[in-house]
Amino acid sequence: MKILVTGGAGFIGANFVLYMHETYPELRLVNVDKLTYAGNLENLAELEGSERHRFIRLDICDSAGVEELLAAERPDALVNFAAESHVDRSIEGPDVFVRTNVSGTLSLLEGSRKAGVRVFLQISTDEVYGTLGATGFFTESSSICPNSPYAASKAGADHLVRAYHKTYGMDTRITRCSNNYGPYQFPEKLIPLMMTNAMEGLPLPVYGDGLHVRDWIYVTDHCRALDLVLAHGKAGEIYNIGGVEQRTNLETVRAILSTMGADESLIRFIPDRPGHDRRYAIDSSKLRKELGWKPLVDFSAGIEKTIAWYRDHQGWWQRIKSGEYRHYYEKKYGKYL
Ligand code: NAD
Ligand code: TYD
Repeated sequence: MKILVTGGAGFIGANFVLYMHETYPELRLVNVDKLTYAGNLENLAELEGSERHRFIRLDICDSAGVEELLAAERPDALVNFAAESHVDRSIEGPDVFVRTNVSGTLSLLEGSRKAGVRVFLQISTDEVYGTLGATGFFTESSSICPNSPYAASKAGADHLVRAYHKTYGMDTRITRCSNNYGPYQFPEKLIPLMMTNAMEGLPLPVYGDGLHVRDWIYVTDHCRALDLVLAHGKAGEIYNIGGVEQRTNLETVRAILSTMGADESLIRFIPDRPGHDRRYAIDSSKLRKELGWKPLVDFSAGIEKTIAWYRDHQGWWQRIKSGEYRHYYEKKYGKYL
């Protein structure tokens, strides 16, 4: 069995590659990544010397390169994590989001169709559903109502993935997961930003009133769900994945600070993100009933594990924060970095 993973040097992709490599001793993994600011080969250091993992630097928008690679590799399945993934960056510059997330997915679909790839798994997000009011959950049949350029580009990709199933009969599957956290997450996202800022004694920027709700899932629980969808999912289906751990951002930040034994005086309320989705909550009963999945790491255990990981890997995030990331954030929030 051979799986081609795209975006496998990023946060979830790297966790998935490490998880699958360890879980299946016979599995061969081809890992394709452009290495944008979010891709980091350090995330794959454990796999150095493995004969079952091969890294290839390639832009998924390079359709000729993608076609050539897929024709040569003929993987059994393709799992597409490659994307621009940060909402704030999509507000500053949407073009690259459409290029990578929409055109890049199209190039992978077309290459997979020509090479006869058996299963195409698209890693999507609950953000394609838009926002919820005070009550309710997103189900797989909720309407697609994206509110950020990031979410709109992911929704565009989902439509193409569906169309390739309907039009060409390809076995495409889509997963829509809620907010992930855990090791190797780039410290521009809420949880690692708060943990690393607290470790450095820097202010913790909370958008608006801090009462926006996110549904958190520990990254290996997401990887386990993807493994099940690959093995037992059905062609043309969508599977929601969520942790049933809904919290306001302020609750999340306070939980991090209290677990770290740090002071809440570092919290700073800053102007809200434009178009900021108020609440996400995922109904993952389809995945639970049909594929027998359930999350294994609850929020407090996951936060403890993640704090421990960032404490033990200060070099990893300090190298990131002293580079390009710092310039991006200085431009945005020059006052505190
Ligand atoms: P990430 O930003 O950490 O990683 C993205 C990876 O894709 C990076 O390694 C980057 O180099 C690579 N990449 C970007 N553009 C590329 C291109 N043109 N060609 C090849 N590689 C390219 O993102 P993540 O948080 O790991 O998210 C992975 C996927 O999961 C994304 O598709 C995202 O939409 C989805 N997702 C993320 C979350 C979350 O909470 N992080 C939740 C649900 C779904
Ligand atoms: P983020 O990690 O960017 O994920 P997403 O926008 O995809 O849900 O943000 C999670 C939540 O935290 C979101 O409501 C925005 C908020 N947030 C802050 O309050 N401060 C920050 O510095 C960041 C990055 C996010």
